[in-house]
Amino acid sequence: MSDPTSPASTANGLLPADPSFPATPQAVADMLRAVGYLPDETIAGTVHLAHGLEKPILVEGPAGTGKTELAKSVALATGARLIRLQCYEGLDESKALYEWDYRKQLLRIQAGQVAGGENGSGWSDVEADIFSEHYLLRRPLLEAIRAEDRVVLLIDEVDRLDVETEALLLEVLSDYQVSIPELGTVTARQRPLVFLTSNNSRELSEALKRRCLFLHVGYPTPERERDIVLSRVPGVSEHLADQVAAAVASLRRMDLKKRPSVSETVDWARTLLMLGVAEVDGEALLRHLHVLLKHQSDIERATGELTGRGTGAR
Ligand SMILES: Nc1ncnc2c1ncn2[C@@H]1O[C@H](COP(=O)(O)OP(=O)(O)OP(=O)(O)O)[C@@H](O)[C@H]1O
Ligand SMILES: [Mg+2]
Repeated sequence: MSDPTSPASTANGLLPADPSFPATPQAVADMLRAVGYLPDETIAGTVHLAHGLEKPILVEGPAGTGKTELAKSVALATGARLIRLQCYEGLDESKALYEWDYRKQLLRIQAGQVAGGENGSGWSDVEADIFSEHYLLRRPLLEAIRAEDRVVLLIDEVDRLDVETEALLLEVLSDYQVSIPELGTVTARQRPLVFLTSNNSRELSEALKRRCLFLHVGYPTPERERDIVLSRVPGVSEHLADQVAAAVASLRRMDLKKRPSVSETVDWARTLLMLGVAEVDGEALLRHLHVLLKHQSDIERATGELTGRGTGAR
């Protein structure tokens, strides 16, 4: 096994698997907790498997439940560089994979003309040169597999991609390579841990799903949410964190358009701490409903239920 501080290549030219990566799901959970991310058993188990099987994880679930944060926390905990591809409608190859560096190519051509004189000799050399990897601008997917330092690749909000663009991911995610017409196949220097996140705003292709391990991250149990609050809000008491988690859980049981997410729970705990509120009662919850709920109809419904004045509008 190689020295963890100098990740030399293996015989096939690939960076070897991180020898310091935790060997059990329990150790993965401990590693994540140490950087403030509170996983449940399934999350820790899936990260452990993804590392062992060298498979990407498709992390799906409602907004604000810690999907993006999971990738960031794994990078932080393992000391890897986080490379993020933020997906959006209209994202194309030149932003996701690579682009030729036209300016640099042009300079090389001009330099070749000066050196080659008027007969233009050496064009074939120039041509071979300007379509080499040196003249590529690497975008996140290519950068992640070609990097020489250890990286974690986050493909965030993959459900926002157009269906055609989603196909661009397939070659990278299954073969860890990129085919470039002018250059040929660029193979991986490493197989990074890959996280794809999705809010499930549209169904992803079966081909993409097949390449990934699937991880659903839903709302946490009140116990885990209390621990998340304790970890994310310095200075909050265990008592307040307990009460916050219980109150949010009761809101989530209501029939709302958009249930409060973990990030909103954290915001509410911060609000209470800032205002010096030590005890959560119905009043504290009612006063700050707008920190937790982002639709007026939900605020009205929750107010109605909490004050026993009926269910309000939806
Ligand atoms: N398990 C967790 N441990 C620690 N913090 C968490 C956890 N889950 C969520 N959080 C907190 O919630 C915040 C929101 O998480 P994140 O941005 O990862 O949500 P998301 O699932 O990616 O949401 P979206 O779908 O809107 O992008 C984080 O910044 C973090 O503070
Ligand atoms: Mg996210």
